[in-house]
Amino acid sequence: MRVLAVLGSPRKGGNTEILVDEMLKGAELKGHIAEKMRLYDYEILPCMDCRGCKKASSGFTCALSDAMSEIYARLEGADLIIFATPIYWYGPTAKMKLFIDRLRPYIASRKLAGKKGLVVTPSEEGEACCGPLLQMFAMSFDYLGMVNAGSLLAQAYEKGEIKKMPGELERAREMGLSL
Ligand SMILES: Cc1cc2nc3c(=O)[nH]c(=O)nc-3n(C[C@H](O)[C@H](O)[C@H](O)COP(=O)(O)O)c2cc1C
Repeated sequence: MRVLAVLGSPRKGGNTEILVDEMLKGAELKGHIAEKMRLYDYEILPCMDCRGCKKASSGFTCALSDAMSEIYARLEGADLIIFATPIYWYGPTAKMKLFIDRLRPYIASRKLAGKKGLVVTPSEEGEACCGPLLQMFAMSFDYLGMVNAGSLLAQAYEKGEIKKMPGELERAREMGLSL
């Protein structure tokens, strides 16, 4: 299986990335092909609701020209997509939301249908504050015909703090092993 982790934290080596790296290590041990990409390394324009992607004449593709062309290809090549974002104001980061908005072509093309989606999210408050985010992802996966493969939620605030929590790293690795 090809596993693609899409990282929505601006902090390189932050809690989100550390959790994802552990999860990917587990996935690789099981023989899966694991890759990650940092959304903050790419220019992603906002969806303008032009509805071009809803027209068969466009091939159900996005009219905008930016880094999403590369990202679309990588998403389509994956079997499981990890949506990894810290909680910002009880939702995803702005960059992750830009990215999610640009998944609109897949409503008509169905090219993500049947793929698995998994959420990885650290936050200061922990699991109790993640309800709105999890609901947004669950409903979006459903709308896209994706299979909800669950979530890994962790409590951490300072950059890299999660490294000092062996139990959380173990949980991430175990989840990777179970993919
Ligand atoms: C703008 C902003 C908003 C945040 N909002 C919340 C929040 O609503 N609830 C929460 O528990 N943590 C919140 N946090 C804390 C982050 O979720 C937390 O520090 C997380 O570990 C950061 O992950 P990272 O190291 O991968 O960037 C916020 C942080 C920032 C910068």
